[in-house]
Amino acid sequence: MEIKVVENVKAINADIFVVNMFENEKTLSELANHYAIEEDNFKGKFGETYLLPTYGKELYKKILVLGLGKKEDLCPNKLREAVAKAIKKAMQMEAKKVAFSLEGIGFDYSEQFTMGAMIADYKFDKYKSEKKDNGIKEVYIEANQEIVKKSEIIAEAMKFARNLSNEPAQFATPTELAEIACDLGLETKVYDREECEKMGMGAFLAVGKGSIQEPKFIHIKYSVNNPKKRIAIIGKGICFDSGGLDLKPASSMLTMKDDMSGAAAVIGIMSVLKELNPQVEVHGIIAACENMPGCKAYKPGDILTAKNGKTIEVDNTDAEGRLTLADALCYACELGVDEVIDMATLTGACMVALGTQASGIMGNDKELVKRLIETANRSGERFWELPLWEEYFDSLKSDIADMKNTGSRWGGASTAGVFLQKFVKDVKWAHIDIAGTAFLEKPQKEFIAGGTGAGVRTMLKYIMEI
Ligand code: BES
Ligand code: MN
Ligand code: ZN
Repeated sequence: MEIKVVENVKAINADIFVVNMFENEKTLSELANHYAIEEDNFKGKFGETYLLPTYGKELYKKILVLGLGKKEDLCPNKLREAVAKAIKKAMQMEAKKVAFSLEGIGFDYSEQFTMGAMIADYKFDKYKSEKKDNGIKEVYIEANQEIVKKSEIIAEAMKFARNLSNEPAQFATPTELAEIACDLGLETKVYDREECEKMGMGAFLAVGKGSIQEPKFIHIKYSVNNPKKRIAIIGKGICFDSGGLDLKPASSMLTMKDDMSGAAAVIGIMSVLKELNPQVEVHGIIAACENMPGCKAYKPGDILTAKNGKTIEVDNTDAEGRLTLADALCYACELGVDEVIDMATLTGACMVALGTQASGIMGNDKELVKRLIETANRSGERFWELPLWEEYFDSLKSDIADMKNTGSRWGGASTAGVFLQKFVKDVKWAHIDIAGTAFLEKPQKEFIAGGTGAGVRTMLKYIMEI
């Protein structure tokens, strides 16, 4: 799909011409008013659509009236959702060219219009032997060209991440992620098992032992001259989480190909940095492996030594993400960057707490966390802060090692957070738990079921605004 910015949408010969209507107000478009709309009791409630045939009297075949709800309630996030609705409707109707005439919106809608259209246009049909060609080719809008262009790039990064999350684990292996990373055209180093051993990554390597897939530690670097800031973004890269010897029940394992969604977000973000050209040095870091119960698998009771020398007693092999992140955090801290931000499908507890509506966020720096939450709100995501009180560490105490990898069931997202914090040294750090938001089992708002690219739009906006 291509978004075309034009001076006059009314002159476009489109399959569908979309006009907006606020609740209980007459549609602003004179064109739509030519056709009886009151007759059907269409009120313009938020997200409702009303289709008008034009009987060949206009340039376009049909007019789609898009309800935007009460004018005073409309905000950029709501607008994005409404645009997505119109796009989905147009896709159902197999339209190829869609023109939007948005009037009376009290703010610059360029960004959220583009995001809504691009996110709604997404499909993952590469494994369908018969593909439906219901994609929209062109969307016309009067908007700010520069903002549209930037937003398109961000939506492309989300698409990259969504594709990776949706890819079955049989294909999206650690080796494959490493290859994809190497193909981004950025400076990239992939460490294999032996090199990770030399670096002392005992926690990360333990997790990968039960799988036939080789673990890969991936470091992608985007650099500029005189960067304003240097940051590292880490993505949890468990290509499949079976739970390991503490095997998950079948129903919990169903979506576990998505356990590399943090890594997918990192790769998606890194993939567009050259194009967006922020004056920030960005390190993308992924400790990629599978958590499987093969005969070499790590076991409950094992004691692992992480890169920083800290020892961990394995209490549950299904709490594997924090083990891989522990070594990735140590590695990132040694880079001497200003900030480290990790994104991880880390805990079912976070999903229980916040559902699919928000990612959990924790960190050791109030300002950084605040800034990320605020950026998420503007980008169309939700981050919700969870506490990192030291008391959460009580249940992680071990009799024979420095800590255990799991503690109490209660407060699981924060407990995982304080575990991670033990591997963070002298750097501003935020942890984003995307367990509930990275992968949808049912469609939600502008998204179809499957990968969402959680974290991508917020992090890109954050990086662009540094
Ligand atoms: N990958 C899971 C977390 C998860 C759950 C992500 C549901 C997405 C949806 C993680 O590795 C895990 O298994 N966590 C355990 C931790 C427990 C053993 C302390 C969990 O949340 O149950
Ligand atoms: Mn797990
Ligand atoms: Zn996991």
